[in-house]
Amino acid sequence: MSTKSPIYSKLAPLYDTLMGDVDYESWADFIDEIIQTHHDEAVSVLELACGTGSLTLSLAELECYELTGTDQSPEMIEVAKDKATEFEVDAEFFPMDFLKFTTSKTYDVIFSVFDSVNYLKIYDDIITMLNNAHEALNEHGILIFDFSTPQNSIESVDYLNENEGDTGDFRYHRVSRYDHNERIHYNEFEIEELDTTTGKVTNTYFEQHTQRAYSLHEMLSIVEQTPYHLEAKYDGFTLNDATEKSTRVTLVLRCQKTQ
Ligand SMILES: C[S@@+](CC[C@H](N)C(=O)[O-])C[C@H]1O[C@@H](n2cnc3c(N)ncnc32)[C@H](O)[C@@H]1O
Repeated sequence: MSTKSPIYSKLAPLYDTLMGDVDYESWADFIDEIIQTHHDEAVSVLELACGTGSLTLSLAELECYELTGTDQSPEMIEVAKDKATEFEVDAEFFPMDFLKFTTSKTYDVIFSVFDSVNYLKIYDDIITMLNNAHEALNEHGILIFDFSTPQNSIESVDYLNENEGDTGDFRYHRVSRYDHNERIHYNEFEIEELDTTTGKVTNTYFEQHTQRAYSLHEMLSIVEQTPYHLEAKYDGFTLNDATEKSTRVTLVLRCQKTQ
């Protein structure tokens, strides 16, 4: 029988295998390009929902920023910390839910990538996350975050469905489906822990991930309810303007503390 586990608890040791095809170095170059375009004096950078820290660690290689990575999952943060130690990277990591900010510092740039904001399924939660980030930004600082759209779920669901992976210690099987009416993308993972000597399954866990797909106009209407100035909306991994046909949109929002 499988045990239902919090998201990204049992998946943490498998996450980098799951994301094996993702080019985090190019993604870090894209985030760096956005920072240099919109805030070229930025030094302090905070990542929200950093997962196992791959993007923060890739950004650290550029040696331009003071980096901090946070995620709601303590297990993902432990993997990130281990990688920082292994690669001798100077970046700080700690667990933090982006709905409950507790940073004593403020930052020039805050960013979140790879559909993490899509885990927020109601508008009020996105507004809370945006307002929390606003509090933690320096005057004229920028928030960069991406989200995936219904078109992305429609295009990716068959590729994601019935996908499997193995690290030797763990293996997973993913079932993915998208509900067009609810706009919810379900990813269900069965995770088996293996005895490394015999290869036998010692434990089985289950994580259900639900994310809401947002259209561009919907997300912009949410942003309008916050104190930010919309600086840019980018299509995919380009600096081209996003449209309603974009599958991934990256927004750049400027903090405005005073009018
Ligand atoms: C698809 S992963 C992306 C991780 C990382 N950004 C990357 O590029 O690999 C989504 C991440 O969002 C995190 N997450 C979900 N809800 C969160 C919340 N309320 N606060 C902070 N992190 C959250 C999860 O723990 C997970 O690590």
